[in-house]
Amino acid sequence: MADPAGALRADLLSDTLTRPTPGMRTAMAQAEVGDDVFGEDPTLRALEERVADLLGHEAALFTPSGSMANQLGVRLHVRPGEELVGDSLAHVVRAELGAAAVLSGISSRTWVAEKGRFRSADAEALMITGVGPYQVCTGLVVVENTHNFGGGTVQSLDEIRRARAVTRERGVAMHLDGARLFNASVASGVSVRDYAAEFDTVSVCLSKGLGAPVGSVLVGSADAMAESRIWRKRFGGGMRQAGILAAAGLFALDHHVERLADDHARARRAAEALAQAVPGTVDPQTVETNIVIADVSVSGWTAPQFVEAALLRGVRTYAVGPRAVRLVWHLDVDDTATDAAIDVITDLAETGPVLP
Ligand SMILES: Cc1ncc(COP(=O)(O)O)c(C=O)c1O
Repeated sequence: MADPAGALRADLLSDTLTRPTPGMRTAMAQAEVGDDVFGEDPTLRALEERVADLLGHEAALFTPSGSMANQLGVRLHVRPGEELVGDSLAHVVRAELGAAAVLSGISSRTWVAEKGRFRSADAEALMITGVGPYQVCTGLVVVENTHNFGGGTVQSLDEIRRARAVTRERGVAMHLDGARLFNASVASGVSVRDYAAEFDTVSVCLSKGLGAPVGSVLVGSADAMAESRIWRKRFGGGMRQAGILAAAGLFALDHHVERLADDHARARRAAEALAQAVPGTVDPQTVETNIVIADVSVSGWTAPQFVEAALLRGVRTYAVGPRAVRLVWHLDVDDTATDAAIDVITDLAETGPVLP
């Protein structure tokens, strides 16, 4: 449900909702452009070079969405008939509508991870390698950082490094779904480059917390990106004067990275207020970035009921399960909106559902 009239007091549905700021719109309007399918868009090239450099990989490829960046990564590493492994709440597995199977003939197997927290042992236990023609071989381990449905969880670099050592030995690739990698970096102090160093390919989204209207970037080796460029075109993602979008991405990297800490602080403040109002609804210590997942059943709500009641009072949230409601902070939720959200959600939690 859109909010064209601006009637909402706080829109915590997703960090994909952000609208370009006036400065970003100016940068977009002034972008030098060319036809990127012919490799002639200077702004897009500048963005790809910048992101490749930031993440310490040889090359980069701009894509229209995070899903496409992930699916290009998946397709690079896994042959048809092979599998990828990841946790059961991973976006690649759960929210890309079976793309790996439909577009690339790849199956997926999963482990269960509390709050999406990555542990190398889970991947190691599930991977199947060296079984010749008898079983499905694992081609790829996917890690999501931060973890969306896990509640903005920041992954441990030690665990990632452990997995990297094992996968290298067993000939399995690693892909990082870094839709919110900048959130992870700002929260943990680990550079995006250090995270990215452990993966064959990494996708990052410009259109989530960073506030660009469209776009993601995949990074990897020069050969891998050349191959992905072909697959991107085949998937229908070859774009023409996309420098207009790349300009938004460059602006976001210049202006919207450090401020992610504000989103994290506001999310934590809301979690603390909620935990104080109704203990057990959320543990604020687990709120590491911009996402709060609250168990509203503690105060008698089902998640869809709570979402509806909050919306009636001007706060939009999202039911991620029968009992769990997700609240996401972003560029368009300031302190005033956060205060309004806290008023509404703490009141609903304290009161519980009113029976007819
Ligand atoms: C962790 C994660 N990866 C990938 C994506 C896909 O991004 P897009 O919506 O641009 O396809 C999302 C979207 O929310 C996400 O949360």
